[in-house]
Amino acid sequence: MGVFSKSQSWLNFEEVVIFAKISPNKRSLPTCARAAMSIASKLSIIVAVSKNGIIGKNGRIPWHIPEELKFFKSITMGHTVIMGRKTFESIGRVLPGRRNLVVTRSENWFFENYYKNSGQISVLGSMDLALNVIRDSPIPEHFWVIGGEEIYRQFLPYVGAIVCSEIPATCDGDAFFQIPRAFVRGEKLCECSQFVAHKWIRTE
Ligand SMILES: NC(=O)c1ccc[n+]([C@@H]2O[C@H](COP(=O)([O-])OP(=O)(O)OC[C@H]3O[C@@H](n4cnc5c(N)ncnc54)[C@H](OP(=O)(O)O)[C@@H]3O)[C@@H](O)[C@H]2O)c1
Repeated sequence: MGVFSKSQSWLNFEEVVIFAKISPNKRSLPTCARAAMSIASKLSIIVAVSKNGIIGKNGRIPWHIPEELKFFKSITMGHTVIMGRKTFESIGRVLPGRRNLVVTRSENWFFENYYKNSGQISVLGSMDLALNVIRDSPIPEHFWVIGGEEIYRQFLPYVGAIVCSEIPATCDGDAFFQIPRAFVRGEKLCECSQFVAHKWIRTE
């Protein structure tokens, strides 16, 4: 199964089969397509979305659901998280137990200096750099794109899966997320009165 074997990917066996069906003969694919599929097997989005597609308001998440935060932690712990500079500043600290990658175009970003010697975060200046880090990483590493809107949008073409917590409420906001049609809903990962989380798998 090459890059899609269960031991090398966060995808389960059925999802690996979906990937294999997309490209029954990966050797015939152009190199760039193979590279993109290799990235997809170790790159996922995790997001929480309201009924009307809102993920943020004024730089913050417009709800506080401790159970959802616990779920986010359980999924991302021990892996690498990738986020935009605005999301990092909104969180305001390094997420412990995870390698933190922050994407910014600013060469002199304050937090880079602040954390320069801590080894806790890496700052990446472009999408190309971020994709290179993912492509070149040792296979067992999994990368979670954790937001916000701008970063989700740019990584969407490359991710193989989305973990989405649906918040059963409508709310005001200025940051949005929508799951594209290329993804199908897979297994339910968590359910409680305040949210339900599913895994969505890329099919095309
Ligand atoms: N509900 C959820 O699951 C969830 C999760 C995360 C965040 N959020 C919410 O989403 C909102 C933030 O989203 P956002 O879209 O405003 O900001 P964002 O995606 O967190 O960060 C945007 C920043 O990332 C950097 N960036 C973007 N594309 C880049 C590229 N190609 N190369 C280099 N740097 C790049 C830029 O930083 P510089 O300006 O420094 O160059 C840009 O200003 C907040 O409300 C937050 O609470 C919600």
